[in-house]
Amino acid sequence: MKITIVGTGYVGLVTGACLADTGNEIWCVDKNESKIRNLEKGILPLYEPGLESLVQNGFKKETLFFTTEIAQAVKNTAICFLCVDTPLSKEGSPDLTNIFAATEVLGAHLTSPCLIVTKSTVPVGTTKKIKEILEKKLRERNIIAGLFSVASNPEFLREGSAVQDFQHPDRIVAGVEKTQDAELLEKLYKPFLRMHGCFLKMDIPSAEFAKYAANTMLASRISLINELANLSEHVGADIDPIREVLGQDPRIGPHFLLAGLGYGGSCLPKDVQALIRLGEEKKVSLPMISAIQKTNQNQRELFFKKLANHFGSEENLRDKTIAIWGLSFKPETDDIRESPAFSIIEKLLQYEARVRVFDPQALDKTRDIFQKSIYFAEDPYSCLEKADCLLVLTEWDIFKKPDFLKMKQAMTTPLIFDGRNIYSKAFLHENGFIYKGVGR
Ligand SMILES: NC(=O)c1ccc[n+]([C@@H]2O[C@H](COP(=O)([O-])OP(=O)(O)OC[C@H]3O[C@@H](n4cnc5c(N)ncnc54)[C@H](O)[C@@H]3O)[C@@H](O)[C@H]2O)c1
Repeated sequence: MKITIVGTGYVGLVTGACLADTGNEIWCVDKNESKIRNLEKGILPLYEPGLESLVQNGFKKETLFFTTEIAQAVKNTAICFLCVDTPLSKEGSPDLTNIFAATEVLGAHLTSPCLIVTKSTVPVGTTKKIKEILEKKLRERNIIAGLFSVASNPEFLREGSAVQDFQHPDRIVAGVEKTQDAELLEKLYKPFLRMHGCFLKMDIPSAEFAKYAANTMLASRISLINELANLSEHVGADIDPIREVLGQDPRIGPHFLLAGLGYGGSCLPKDVQALIRLGEEKKVSLPMISAIQKTNQNQRELFFKKLANHFGSEENLRDKTIAIWGLSFKPETDDIRESPAFSIIEKLLQYEARVRVFDPQALDKTRDIFQKSIYFAEDPYSCLEKADCLLVLTEWDIFKKPDFLKMKQAMTTPLIFDGRNIYSKAFLHENGFIYKGVGR
């Protein structure tokens, strides 16, 4: 099947590469010319485990193509997925400029019947609006509607395991107007649904809303475990064994129960905020959803306060050397959007601390933002040189079993603030470290 993917970011590129791998002819379009030129040379714009080899295979087998020209990409395409970014606007609701701009261009070039599928996370009513834009564009070109239909197919992949998630989905959500559109999508996803996972067909508004509902539910678990952690710390309990107690209950389950610095990234923060904004617009009271967000913001502030308190005050952070391990919002990705590390670095710089950072994948993207105001280390141990403290902000595997002796030798003071609870408190105490975790 010939398929077009508009927007070649985390979602679009993974979707394209995985669908090419099952034998489809995939045309990935992006408005960012340098991104496309690099992809044509095999240079990926992002880090995602397993993605590079899939893209290379697609090249070799001639099933994967990259272009900035939508006209070429949509010619005789069966399905066109819209995977562009839908960031938050200044007002706190989703900014749909990119998705509507992509739709306009699509409407100007569509020449053969196809299914237009919204894969980006969009508010209810967006796919309907896309249909209206397309109809208008086609009317302007004297083409009668019927050339296309629309569907919503929100994406549930997680950065860091995006390829794995795409290839082994728990569920595929298909919001459709016509049964044959659902059949077409089910046929496309069939190779991925063989092992497990189900195909959930529904109306378009429910499919659009389901994505926000899922992300808000996940965010609620993180904020709740963090509140429980904050309290357990004050009564001498440890959130780690408590988490196991909770996770073993099948009604609760073990996932999304790690206490720490809270959620970040390009999805959970923006999708929770979008629902809060929607509630305001519709005048529906959403106290729980607002609290999820507030708790998440507090979590970073509490961590910073704990650090400042250790040194006596925020002002005492001045000229302290603070090493940071981990910049991406979670491991196995170079995505730094809404990463807790950024709020913490900004605060440290505000109080004139000297900041040294290391991350296995996110150094380049972070350098673009902080430039010379912080020091970028080439490896975890050189990051620790003369450090008064280490902050662990992302739970990359490489940080989990370090050479503690080497760490101690490099640091001025063996002090660790573990924002992700990756170390054993008892072990570190036994080995002469001062250790502070979250909720323990
Ligand atoms: N990143 C995730 O983990 C994830 C998971 C599920 C859903 N989503 C949703 O998927 C959507 C895309 O997210 P992402 O993280 O892949 O975004 P991204 O920022 O990584 O990529 C978006 C791409 O779209 C391109 N683009 C923007 N406007 C365009 C246009 N008019 N024509 C062609 N290309 C255009 C951009 O240049 C960029 O390359 C968002 O709605 C997001 O909420 C993301």
